[in-house]
Amino acid sequence: MKRPLKLGVNVDHVATLRQARGTAYPDPREASSICMAAGASSITLHLREDRRHVQDADVFTVGGDPRIPLNLEMANVPEIIEIALRVSPEEVCLVPERREELTTEGGLDIAGRREVIGETVQRLADTGARVSLFIEPDEAQIAASVAVAAPVVELHTGTYCEAVGGARELELARLIRGAELAHAAGLQVNAGHGINLENIEDLLQVPHMDTLNIGHSIVSRAVMVGLETAVKEMLGALAVYA
Ligand code: PXP
Repeated sequence: MKRPLKLGVNVDHVATLRQARGTAYPDPREASSICMAAGASSITLHLREDRRHVQDADVFTVGGDPRIPLNLEMANVPEIIEIALRVSPEEVCLVPERREELTTEGGLDIAGRREVIGETVQRLADTGARVSLFIEPDEAQIAASVAVAAPVVELHTGTYCEAVGGARELELARLIRGAELAHAAGLQVNAGHGINLENIEDLLQVPHMDTLNIGHSIVSRAVMVGLETAVKEMLGALAVYA
């Protein structure tokens, strides 16, 4: 029997709201517990080098709660690697990061940086973390992900989510092909970035997906309907995946 598509909720923007006023609330850990109770399978926190939303303490509190499987999203930089090694999350997703970007732009170039990424994958895997690489759905990046022994890839859906018309069709075809190649290569296929209740339906044509990681649209929707309902709505949209 096919396993249901899982939802990982990224709660970075709960922290964004807190940082906007320097208050102690809203608390990403409390938000994580609500998401888990509503049916999420994991929680993502992106500890950015500039600490614009998630703070180190958030990673330690959420990561230290045995009821919350943490997917720590991070750049491949020494300072954050050291934190990841101390927190020892269930999953780590390596992403590219530029300080001036609004959000993660594009996938990681594994093909061009195999040695340095391979070393980090190994160090993190040695702590028991399942390492995921956030990549474009390209053959070269998929082959490189296999070469550095990462068990999971997260396919970048941002371009698909922003595209319209024919460009969106092309991007969807690229994701479908990427998922097929990654699955055939023995990789777990996750996907994420920019997914919302409007664009998810077509995205479910992508085969072999295990987990979708979704943040901004769920937290935005939570402002209107509450976090529990926002998570359940998204789970309802995922439920038709076959
Ligand atoms: N996956 C990765 C690798 C990301 O960088 C992000 C954004 O932090 C997400 C998923 C979630 O994207 P969004 O907030 O647009 O749903």
